[in-house]
Amino acid sequence: MPIQWYPGHMAKAKREISEALKNVDIVLELRDARIPLASKNPMVDEIVGVKPRLILLNKSNMADRKQTEAWIKYYKNQGIMALDVDSIDKYNIDKVYPYVKIVLADYIKKQEERGISNVNIRGLIIGIPNVGKSTFINLLAGRKIAVTGDKPGVTKMNLWININPYFKIMDTPGILWPKFEDQEIGYKLAICGSIKDEILELEGIAFKAVEYMKELYPNLLAARYSLNEEEIKSMEAIDVLDAIGEKRGCLLKKGQIDYNRACKLIINDIRSMKIGAMTLERPEGNN
Ligand code: G4P
Repeated sequence: MPIQWYPGHMAKAKREISEALKNVDIVLELRDARIPLASKNPMVDEIVGVKPRLILLNKSNMADRKQTEAWIKYYKNQGIMALDVDSIDKYNIDKVYPYVKIVLADYIKKQEERGISNVNIRGLIIGIPNVGKSTFINLLAGRKIAVTGDKPGVTKMNLWININPYFKIMDTPGILWPKFEDQEIGYKLAICGSIKDEILELEGIAFKAVEYMKELYPNLLAARYSLNEEEIKSMEAIDVLDAIGEKRGCLLKKGQIDYNRACKLIINDIRSMKIGAMTLERPEGNN
């Protein structure tokens, strides 16, 4: 069943963000490095329009480095700069401001030609819920920033947050949801722990996770659960799930898998990265 998420709020967020865009020079768009497409708001390109943009692939220490590099290259080919960051491990946070200046090089040059030596830059942070916006903002600012409301219907104050004397940012004035109508997107977000588990059934999430992992990272499944990589590749996802359950002793009785336990185990292993770093989406031509 497709998940319906506050379409009215989406329109409101779009209006508010369009309004906020008038007051900024650059958009810093956060995405989840493990799912750069699923963690994208479907209207973001339309909303941002021609405004300079820097994509920040957050949670990158949980993603497959090779794939993150492929994504950065993919965006570069589209004329968009992307930077991989991790707001927990504080990875590449010091590069954010230099990257902002590179994206705005033309604008800065023009200002300097007009005699302005220290150009002030204003940025707008956008991203779907749980992508790590608050964590990122706190880290970038070097202090805890109070967020007024992160619930639908609760308006956030448009506060400027000073990052350094020449760079200030503003948090999204509304909530930008991902494209929930697409069930695959819902599952990818759930696998990465970005939507609450009550929304999609745990068994369904784990089954999907095994399907993706079997396709993209049979080596990680094999290593974590002492299975044979070649065998995994030719098995059905449900059989891989059974094999994991059996290996880990998730049984109701002999020969009968305790799916609830097996599914919880797999999901926990993925979200806690015990299974290893992984990226569930590939840029075009990189499958
Ligand atoms: P939001 O404002 O965009 O809604 O996201 P928020 O910062 O609240 O982050 C959502 C979850 O993602 C939090 O975990 C946070 O710790 C985690 N997170 C944010 N950035 C990163 C990152 O770069 N790497 C990793 N590994 N995790 C990140 P949580 O479990 O929901 O909450 P908490 O108990 O950790 O606070």
